[in-house]
Amino acid sequence: MNQVDYLRISLIDRCNFRCQYCMPEGTELDYILKQDLLTDEELLTLIQKVFIPVGFTRFRLTGGEPLLRPRVVELVRAIASFRETQDLSMTTNGFLLAPMAQSLYHAGLRRINISLDSLDPEVFDQIIGNRGRSRWQDVWNGIQAAYSVGFDPLKINVVVIPDVNDQEILDLAALTIDKQWHVRFIEFMPIGNLSLFGDRGWISSAELRQRIHARWGLTESQVRGSGPADIFQIPGAKGTLGFISQMSECFCDRCNRMRLSADGWLRPCLLNETGQIDLKTALRTGVSTTELRQKVRELLAIKPEINFKSRDSGTTGAYARTMSQIGG
Ligand code: GTP
Ligand code: 5AD
Ligand code: SF4
Repeated sequence: MNQVDYLRISLIDRCNFRCQYCMPEGTELDYILKQDLLTDEELLTLIQKVFIPVGFTRFRLTGGEPLLRPRVVELVRAIASFRETQDLSMTTNGFLLAPMAQSLYHAGLRRINISLDSLDPEVFDQIIGNRGRSRWQDVWNGIQAAYSVGFDPLKINVVVIPDVNDQEILDLAALTIDKQWHVRFIEFMPIGNLSLFGDRGWISSAELRQRIHARWGLTESQVRGSGPADIFQIPGAKGTLGFISQMSECFCDRCNRMRLSADGWLRPCLLNETGQIDLKTALRTGVSTTELRQKVRELLAIKPEINFKSRDSGTTGAYARTMSQIGG
């Protein structure tokens, strides 16, 4: 069984993009009220006094868009300063990244995953729901800034949507040839915008690999990360290609993670709400950190049974929720 030592921490459920597949314009989302967000102090207490003592050593900051969280650099510094923190990473849309990349790195952030669904600014703006000045260049600048500051690995996430950006996968894959970037193609899943999913469907990683293989050849890497991606490489390329195949393949049996939402719910699975615990209310009503550790240990013990396949029991509207609400 996998050791569960990786916590994905959503810092905020709000986002400055409106990606079609996630929270498109017009979606009515119930944002978390300010008073319900975990404060910096509560979050750091939970990490230091609950999660680290039960064995979590790797933390990924997510959103919504994590760079919208006030004092995010200070939070990074504080989490990185814990002696037990072995890995601190972030998943961001990259829009605010360019001017922040250096301070985030200096504060102790080491790995970063940035979404870039298209190399064509017009298509990109359509996907992220932007009608104003194009935002593509800002994100591209963010990627370049992260690369030059030294984030390693630097991963680029592409959610592949039929007839929206699938015609670009060879161009996106080609980014790995000269640069040591890791481009990951994510199968579009029915979470967030269910009607777009119904209209467009999804493309399997196997099909994408065939297309890439036909162009350059493709070798499977011996090194599998601890995450959900299967790693491949274009022969001779500096970077790698990752395929995250949650629709065509079940990788629940190697799951190493739990999720903490911005309002303090600890959730054992992205797609299954069973067993989730309201840590914020517990903290605010005086439950001791000793008792909270016990609750988390109990959840860890049943985690292997709570997965994508067993989602029907106890899962109400998980699919209707967006990645921005769950923390991706
Ligand atoms: P690292 O392995 O640490 O780089 O992280 P990651 O690849 O898991 O992180 P990222 O935030 O970039 O997530 C990329 C995609 O992986 C997300 O869009 C999800 O679709 C998928 N994913 C991540 N974790 C899980 C999980 O526990 N279950 C499922 N089904 N999908 C996941
Ligand atoms: N299907 C697959 N991936 C998604 N993401 C957001 N919504 C979906 C979806 N419906 C991705 C984002 C980001 C990651 C955290 O989750 O593109 O890369
Ligand atoms: Fe924002 Fe990420 Fe959702 Fe896009 S996928 S709207 S960047 S939270």
